[in-house]
Amino acid sequence: MLLEINQLYKSFPQADHGQIDVLKNINLEIHEGETVAVVGQSGSGKSTLLSLMAGLDRQSSGSLRLREQEISEMSELKLTQFRAENIGIIFQQFYLMPHLTALENVSLPLEMFGNKDHQKRAKEALLQVGLSEREQHFPHQLSGGESQRVAIARAVVTRPSILLADEPTGNLDNETGVHVANLLFDLVQTTGMTLLLVTHNMEMALRCSRQLTLQFGTFQ
Ligand SMILES: Nc1ncnc2c1ncn2[C@@H]1O[C@H](COP(=O)(O)OP(=O)(O)O)[C@@H](O)[C@H]1O
Ligand SMILES: [Mg+2]
Repeated sequence: MLLEINQLYKSFPQADHGQIDVLKNINLEIHEGETVAVVGQSGSGKSTLLSLMAGLDRQSSGSLRLREQEISEMSELKLTQFRAENIGIIFQQFYLMPHLTALENVSLPLEMFGNKDHQKRAKEALLQVGLSEREQHFPHQLSGGESQRVAIARAVVTRPSILLADEPTGNLDNETGVHVANLLFDLVQTTGMTLLLVTHNMEMALRCSRQLTLQFGTFQ
């Protein structure tokens, strides 16, 4: 099993008093090579679930194992390394480094861990998303669709065990969104990558092999 989530709960303290229980008893198993969509209304806890999977936040209770390793038991240092090796993430916002070129943005995750092939692999990743012509462009010189393609290249350049995507076309107009979605699914298919896609776009969700609906903090 690639990813195994058991009895996962997440609550946030509220400003006045008490807490909001955002995720309640989430159970999920994802096999290697699967593509899974999580759909649900705004506020249903999709991004919260994704950030727990990415180890960007800690659960209140329950277990979250990726490649047989319990994410919540890792130190921050171990988690940083583990995340860099195993998890690719794409957000609705592109979060490119504004002072780095497209090529530098993509090679950064490899460079950080001393990979000697970083330049070559970053160029390959940009080729995969059809942006070889844009290697030397800075983020402000790229369109929204191009920026998200750079972000996709950056997420897959490390060859992660799982790609987590949170509303990856949410900031793009319809036509560009469809184009980026096509590219993402082509990439996932040719590489056999495991994908967990969070979206409220049913059309996109249906392109995954499995769909799960999050409602009232749990899978329906
Ligand atoms: N850091 C936080 N502190 C307090 N409440 C939060 C925090 N993050 C998310 N929430 C709350 O958790 C709920 C789910 O949010 P989120 O996971 O972003 O939903 P979705 O991505 O499905 O729109 C919302 O009610 C939101 O206000
Ligand atoms: Mg969200």
